[in-house]
Amino acid sequence: MTADSTQTAPPLSEALGQEVKRRRTFAIISHPDAGKTTLTERLLRAGGAIQMAGNVRAKGERRRTRSDWMSIERDRGISVVTSVMTFEYGGCVFNLLDTPGHEDFSEDTYRTLTAVDCAVMVIDAAKGIEARTRKLFEICRLRDIPIITFINKMDREAQDSFELLDEIAETLALDVSPATWPVGRAATFAGTYDLRHGKLNLVQPVPEGDERLALMEEEVELAGVLPAFNQEAFDQGTLTPVYFGSAMKEIGVTDLLDALVEIGPAPRSQPTETRPVQAAEEGLTALVFKIQANMDPNHRDRMAFARICSGKLARGMRLRHIRSGKQFALHTPQFFFAQNRQLVEEAYGGDVVGIPNHGTLRIGDTLTEGEEIRFTGVPHFAPEILRRVRLDDAMKAKKLRNALVELAEEGVVQLFRPQDGALPIVGVVGTLQLDVLQSRLKAEYGVPVGFESTPFTVARWVKGPQEALERFEAANRSSMADDLDGDPVLLASSAFMMNRAMETNPELTFHDIKQIG
Ligand code: G4P
Repeated sequence: MTADSTQTAPPLSEALGQEVKRRRTFAIISHPDAGKTTLTERLLRAGGAIQMAGNVRAKGERRRTRSDWMSIERDRGISVVTSVMTFEYGGCVFNLLDTPGHEDFSEDTYRTLTAVDCAVMVIDAAKGIEARTRKLFEICRLRDIPIITFINKMDREAQDSFELLDEIAETLALDVSPATWPVGRAATFAGTYDLRHGKLNLVQPVPEGDERLALMEEEVELAGVLPAFNQEAFDQGTLTPVYFGSAMKEIGVTDLLDALVEIGPAPRSQPTETRPVQAAEEGLTALVFKIQANMDPNHRDRMAFARICSGKLARGMRLRHIRSGKQFALHTPQFFFAQNRQLVEEAYGGDVVGIPNHGTLRIGDTLTEGEEIRFTGVPHFAPEILRRVRLDDAMKAKKLRNALVELAEEGVVQLFRPQDGALPIVGVVGTLQLDVLQSRLKAEYGVPVGFESTPFTVARWVKGPQEALERFEAANRSSMADDLDGDPVLLASSAFMMNRAMETNPELTFHDIKQIG
């Protein structure tokens, strides 16, 4: 469907507009070890979201608190779970979405990045752009998400600042505009000079005439040939302002927060099948981009994370759940803070809230005050690894079936039911997802499983006229399966076989991405 230009846009409210304008919804993207966790903790602390004595590391804390329900996170030292943290700073409300650090989780990461308006790209000053940073950057670029660069670990031996800027510009094909400049390096790193406001932010006193200041002034002059900051280019994702700092030493962290307040984009409009939805529109609309079950091991809860795309949310509202057409009462929406959650009394376009539910809400679902629209842009990718789940204890077959559905709804794996009645097949994009599935089935559902290979390596969603589709399904019963929504999928043993099916059935289309919602 295309946008209908004759449709009149809904009214914008000024009061609502004020609230929306001060929302900043962002994610941090980086290669493992660049300092995302440390920076997250420092941002939350600067925003007053956590009070910690001394240098307690958030990662350690998080690992401990989450390890109960997901030991894999502790064992592998990676962040498997996407979560959101809300805090206030400088008159703005920040929603910081945590992106999983491992490359296997591209689907989950992609969905998280659909829900942000801006990304902070953290780079290790000694290592420059690393593989994972680059991949995440490409995802942001696909969606024209503005990027603020934070060059971290300036308190250690670092590459030359100009070389780093050149590397970012060249590898990512971006205009790079230094917004701060380091004063001192490695052990003598003392703070930053804010080029945009002509202001020194020092954490250690640096006497006038100190050679660090002299060097900084010299370099800043040389940096004058680099592009100046341009809000429009930044908003369009073609220019990145660069901040230098040390998350560990808490240098440059408030520069970054101040930048998010000052230049960080307010909530963007979101695409639907029919029209873009502006964040300051009156009617509430929300998009579910993440489901997380069993967050609290003591309660079998299931949280849907929704981005409010427009309007104002008030607790107790009755919304329309577009996929089912049913009413959905918003009794206990929640905000997540670093160390607790709180009931949401009101929230605005750009905010991310958790909505507890028992399976009604799925990834890609739209909620509105009545308008029949569906948000787009939340995809499923065709899995590249297809396995049968082997159950050692036959008594647990029913439990396994339910658990698989729940975990598939959460987006941990995709679930395919073969049309010939064979045992269900799980599909994943990366093998680590299988480990996560296995570990969660055991820890949360008490169902130990193994995996068996299948003859299949390629999956494509099949679409076409009803009659042609039915004929095709009947002729290929042993290679056809239904996904969680009942949509037909062709499973093939090789790309060659898949291509043959495509060539011999020109009336049908075969898709490696499915829009959900
Ligand atoms: P990640 O989430 O991106 O994987 O990185 P994380 O914050 O866990 O940081 C990775 C390592 O880098 C940690 O050291 C952390 O202390 C260190 N680090 C982060 N920011 C800075 C910085 O600005 N300067 C310096 N010098 N180091 C920094 P670790 O040895 O793995 O852990 P730990 O022993 O410090 O707990």
